[in-house]
Amino acid sequence: MTVLNIATPSRAPAAPVRGKNLWRLRSFITEFSDLLSTAPVEETILYVGGDLLRQLVAQDDWLPDEFARPDPERYQQYLLHADSAQRFSIVSFVWGPGQRTPIHDHTVWGLIGMLRGAEHAQSYALRGGVPRKIGEPVLLKPGAVEAVSPHSEELHDVHQVSNAFDDRVSVSIHVYGANIGAVRRSVYHPDGQRKPFISGYSNATLPNIWDLSAEQSSS
Ligand SMILES: [Fe+2]
Repeated sequence: MTVLNIATPSRAPAAPVRGKNLWRLRSFITEFSDLLSTAPVEETILYVGGDLLRQLVAQDDWLPDEFARPDPERYQQYLLHADSAQRFSIVSFVWGPGQRTPIHDHTVWGLIGMLRGAEHAQSYALRGGVPRKIGEPVLLKPGAVEAVSPHSEELHDVHQVSNAFDDRVSVSIHVYGANIGAVRRSVYHPDGQRKPFISGYSNATLPNIWDLSAEQSSS
């Protein structure tokens, strides 16, 4: 028997290469699509789907940098995937230092998973059309998942989200029960003014989750 005596150079563990494990997003899409194929009630979507999202944001090594790029002017929302039947969409929200949304609604269920940095989410209820704060803002740290819904007593559909940091970028992954960039929604001003909006997306191209060549050649 020959014993190979090969010295292993000691070195610090390599930092995760962001965008390397895009298969995590592909698996998430498949599993979320499978979940919706069972025609679950919304509560199940949020509970089981929230668990899937928690697994996705547990690792920060899959989101390509181009979908995590901040803009100095305003927060970015990059479409990562839209279901072919528009049953759901997945978006990366990228918050530059100190950036925040206006108070807004969604009109469909939504899941928010924190990937990088941290954000504050403040819920609101509309009283006579005027947004009133509900409770204290929630601080989301990496790995945490929150839900919004227009159909739930406990969850709220109106909120305001802000980067918890003034000096660094934060990134969260959102899943919505529609092609969210095309949904007619509203922003609410503190004085009760309501302004309709359709958000669109910040990107023109999507991540290519289907080039399997690197995975196939390494197997
Ligand atoms: Fe939102």
